[in-house]
Amino acid sequence: MAGTTGHKTRALLDWYSENQRGFPWRQTSDPWPILVSEVMLQQTQAVRVVPFFERFMEGYPEPAALAQAPLSEVLAMWSGLGYNRRALRLREAARQINDHGWPSDARRLEGLPGIGSYTAAAIACFAFGEQLPTVETNLRRVLSRWYGKPLAGRDLTEAAQEELPCGRAVDWNQAMMDLGAVLCKPREPRCGVCPVVDWCAGKDTYVAPRPQGGFSGSSREARGAVLRALVGRGRSTAMEIGNEAGIAESRVLRSLAALVSEGLVAKVGAEFHLPDG
Ligand code: ADE
Repeated sequence: MAGTTGHKTRALLDWYSENQRGFPWRQTSDPWPILVSEVMLQQTQAVRVVPFFERFMEGYPEPAALAQAPLSEVLAMWSGLGYNRRALRLREAARQINDHGWPSDARRLEGLPGIGSYTAAAIACFAFGEQLPTVETNLRRVLSRWYGKPLAGRDLTEAAQEELPCGRAVDWNQAMMDLGAVLCKPREPRCGVCPVVDWCAGKDTYVAPRPQGGFSGSSREARGAVLRALVGRGRSTAMEIGNEAGIAESRVLRSLAALVSEGLVAKVGAEFHLPDG
């Protein structure tokens, strides 16, 4: 950790105090909304998460509320965000927190369902003030450009720890995320207006990851459509679900098999429904 705040860090934090994105989960240090937001943010862009986050927090203002909620209701609330297994794991995490209290540090938070090292670090830092870097994709890209080489694994963590200013982890982590999302973008970074361009080895040292496969026609698309069709319906056959979702029965059957094995859909005879429990 940097002992004193250097010029680069000061330039970054000054930029952040003027330009930070005002997300609702940044207005609190309560671990529950922070956990919910970070799980939603795992695979979804922040601007898309905002309305889902606000509705979810109204419905489940504390872990006990989610712990007791039926899965069909939780999935209906999650519907449209995608990667629905996250909702199932989040309810399981809420149950553990409700029964045993909050794990007190990043290492123990990683023991909760659906919480990887990034999410654990984010909760530990933003809610509990732990002074550690939240290493995610934006931070990786920004640091790789500063250092002039693609950083990963231990090198990346060590570089982030080295840069982290003493006592300022919350602002520094969010500043790095915002810099990466707003200026230091994967393609066409806006170096002309970047507050830390003087300390950067350059944008060309970062190798952009290959874009993800298309959504249209994907199994993720089919799974989402099947779950949306089941929200608000009673027991339905695969054909009925296919008609409602507008997708072929063979794709519906494949999605249903996966969803049943993950516990997101219940099967009774030849019919399917959202689980009651
Ligand atoms: N992506 C992941 N975590 C985030 C956060 N706390 N704010 C904005 N974007 C994020």
